[in-house]
Amino acid sequence: MDRGSSCFLLFLIVSSLVYPSICHESDDASCVAASKAYVLAFLTHDASHVPLHPLCTRRENGIITGRSGPEIASSVEKSPQFRVIKSINEETYVVENGIVMSKYVLDTGFGPITLKSQVQENFTCESYCGAQKIRTIVACISLF
Ligand SMILES: *[C@@H]1O[C@H](CO)[C@@H](O)[C@H](O)[C@H]1NC(C)=O
Repeated sequence: MDRGSSCFLLFLIVSSLVYPSICHESDDASCVAASKAYVLAFLTHDASHVPLHPLCTRRENGIITGRSGPEIASSVEKSPQFRVIKSINEETYVVENGIVMSKYVLDTGFGPITLKSQVQENFTCESYCGAQKIRTIVACISLF
């Protein structure tokens, strides 16, 4: 083997070992961005920019509350539980084994009444039409 082809072979081996992890990292970053967009939509009441997979499912406190991307988008924009959200605080996002684990505190209520709840919400994403889209949402919501 000449120098050129052994060099190429080395490149191929090294890059194929490194590439999956690079690819995985950027997938994680876009899944975090997608998750943040979902949470932000609670305040804007506009879910049009949230990358939801068409087959996205959502489960909150053990109950299925969404069976498709459009259904979940519509509920974030229109359902009363999201309408009464005043602010979102202490947001954190951690990725582990492809799961985006978020935590945040929701201030809910109207007028002078405010209820605080702690949300733990896990997101998984799947590639759809060349972009990472939220495929599953699992949330545990508890009042303080
Ligand atoms: C999120 O995923 C982690 C790790 O699998 C798990 O321990 C935690 O209970 C999950 N949280 C929710 C809200 O499902």
